Amino acid sequence: MKHKKSLDANEILELIFTFLTELSSLRNYDDIIRVLADMGRALTGADRCTIWVVSDDKKKIWAKVAHGMDEIELDIHSGIVGNAIMNNQKIIIDDVYSDNRFNPDVDKITGYVTKSMMVIPMSDNDNRIIGAFQVINHKNEQSIFDKRDMERLMLASTYAAETLVAAKLTKEIEDTQKEVVFTMGAIGESRSKETGNHVKRVAEYSKILALACGLSFEDAELLKDASPMHDIGKVAIPDSILNKPGRFDAQERLIMDTHAELGYGMIKNSDRPLLKAASIVAYEHHEKWDGTGYPRKLSGENIHIYGRITALADVFDALGSDRIYKKAWDDERIFALFKEERGKHFDPDLIDLFFDNLDKFLKIREKLKDEF
Ligand SMILES: [Fe+2]
Ligand SMILES: [Fe+2]
Repeated sequence: MKHKKSLDANEILELIFTFLTELSSLRNYDDIIRVLADMGRALTGADRCTIWVVSDDKKKIWAKVAHGMDEIELDIHSGIVGNAIMNNQKIIIDDVYSDNRFNPDVDKITGYVTKSMMVIPMSDNDNRIIGAFQVINHKNEQSIFDKRDMERLMLASTYAAETLVAAKLTKEIEDTQKEVVFTMGAIGESRSKETGNHVKRVAEYSKILALACGLSFEDAELLKDASPMHDIGKVAIPDSILNKPGRFDAQERLIMDTHAELGYGMIKNSDRPLLKAASIVAYEHHEKWDGTGYPRKLSGENIHIYGRITALADVFDALGSDRIYKKAWDDERIFALFKEERGKHFDPDLIDLFFDNLDKFLKIREKLKDEF
């Protein structure tokens, strides 16, 4: 087999430039790690490249070692990567199985056979080691790494460290946001007559519909995280109305209905994508396809797709759940109503997608059912 000649300086620069451009367009932590690994592999001519990250408590290192596999977590003292990280040391090894620092566990899990390896620790601006680049099995004839490969990987690792730190911060902020949004949503629900898992189920149902109607994975995830906030405006509705057993009179109904606009008002000024999405959901989840909903009597596609989706998910869950004031409807009755309201209350396409994906909905309802 003929091996590719190694890259010259210009090609290296071009490669780095291409990867940096791609990296700068990414926001998702996993995507960034994947592209960093691709860069490490391309720069060194390795068969594999893995980015290892030191855990927050500094006791473990973890990585996604192969596509489609779960993360692998190892003790930070374990193996050659652990060694490189603990001693802040670059390591090149021609044959790992003759090196007693080598931990063959990862090979055992993946079924991959490691021969040569190079590891370079990555530090943040305060010189704290945050992880390591690991490349495995050079694709050259000797199948070993040399000093030039090391220099190239070091170049990449300087940039990678910064990117990783930034991505980790972003991820932390986003995780915090999600948690806050979810908690707020749960507060909105728990003050009212809803049950505990209602917002969780609505979130999952919304994601199914989002994917089914062709929204991107990112948008579907965003809607999933935002939809628990649909009733956040209820925090501003007086208890006496919110928790009234039995039917509302006309005046109470009017007050109750203000929760959509109230919720929107609470979060509309945020620039955060998640809160922006949540404000749309809060505002439009009671609009109806035929224009008879509230608060703005929007109709058809003038209702944001997030609003149309959450409306269906919310009603499906509300009808199928026991509440203090009513028993859960049986499925046949719900399905009949959905067919009846196709093109009236609900977006007709979404109703079709609901029935096409019914098994997924029922699975989630079973998995997240209310425990009493
Ligand atoms: Fe609502
Ligand atoms: Fe709800």
